[in-house]
Amino acid sequence: MKQALLTAGVRTPRSRLVQSDEELLDAVEDLGLPVVVKPYDFGGSGGVVLATTREEALAALAESKGVIAQYGAAFNILGDKYLVEQFVDSDDEVSVEVLCGAGRAQVLAVTEKYLSPRPWFAELAHLVPSHRTGDEALTDLAVRACVALGIDRGLAHVEIKFGADGTPWVIEVAARPGGDGIMDQVERAYELNPYRLHVGSYLGVDLLGTVAAAVPVRTSAIAFLKAAPGRIRDVLDGKPLPPEVRSINIAAKPGDLSHAAKNWSTREGLVELEWDELFDAKTPLPVTVAKDLSDQIFVTGEAAGA
Ligand SMILES: Nc1ncnc2c1ncn2[C@@H]1O[C@H](COP(=O)(O)OP(=O)(O)OP(=O)(O)O)[C@@H](O)[C@H]1O
Ligand SMILES: [Mg+2]
Repeated sequence: MKQALLTAGVRTPRSRLVQSDEELLDAVEDLGLPVVVKPYDFGGSGGVVLATTREEALAALAESKGVIAQYGAAFNILGDKYLVEQFVDSDDEVSVEVLCGAGRAQVLAVTEKYLSPRPWFAELAHLVPSHRTGDEALTDLAVRACVALGIDRGLAHVEIKFGADGTPWVIEVAARPGGDGIMDQVERAYELNPYRLHVGSYLGVDLLGTVAAAVPVRTSAIAFLKAAPGRIRDVLDGKPLPPEVRSINIAAKPGDLSHAAKNWSTREGLVELEWDELFDAKTPLPVTVAKDLSDQIFVTGEAAGA
């Protein structure tokens, strides 16, 4: 994917595939610090770690290999290679849902993404529509990424991060609808079912015009609940919820151990939110509402460390 993007002139961070510590240090030499280390064939931000020194890079590769040792078999992951990538240094990130056709594509929605503190990149929340929905440099990059990869049908999920100067960089492209409940948020925001578009496209119906005409009518978000690190002593369910809450799902139970946010596996539940307004800047609300609810719901005991 990365090679096809670079060949087509689609802006994406330079990267090297490595297996050993020696190859890692070679890659760091070539790319320059900081770098992101990640398994080349996993998802959910599992084993994705930022490194600002050679020592941190070595530790990041070891951590990434540890995540694959833990989850590789369950997810049918080879985990035999790791990507070392130039770091796009900001917390501004979106995902773009694109409906693809042969040699062309149309953006359906731009989703604002909320990330955990570094050195990890756990997704804390997703909000649709992003205030950047009309940004043509962004939507054009997403379309060119899909065309460059030859994705000729269905919805694709393009992840784009902005450098400190606002330049958009493609992090990765998945030839499938986005996960994490993003499709439900798109459906609520646009009153249009993305799976109907995806299935219709696979059945040969040209729906790019329908997508081009789609207009958001409200804001919808999903945010993940996070207990303070430590042993969860109690789960206080059933309290009154703020009006913007559309659904809540608590996954943790008393006795569970909560760890710092690292990837999909460190979530204790989720909340879906809805507002009648469209925001014209990145609102912190998904993260602050989820944090307030998490603080009310989860009673955590002694710290468990990261
Ligand atoms: N080169 C990079 N520069 C800056 N941030 C990065 C880079 N690579 C990855 N990240 C951050 O880590 C996150 C996860 O990385 P990536 O999307 O490559 O892996 P993933 O495990 O497939 O993720 P997911 O399945 O959650 O989409 C990105 O969304 C981004 O926030
Ligand atoms: Mg990703």
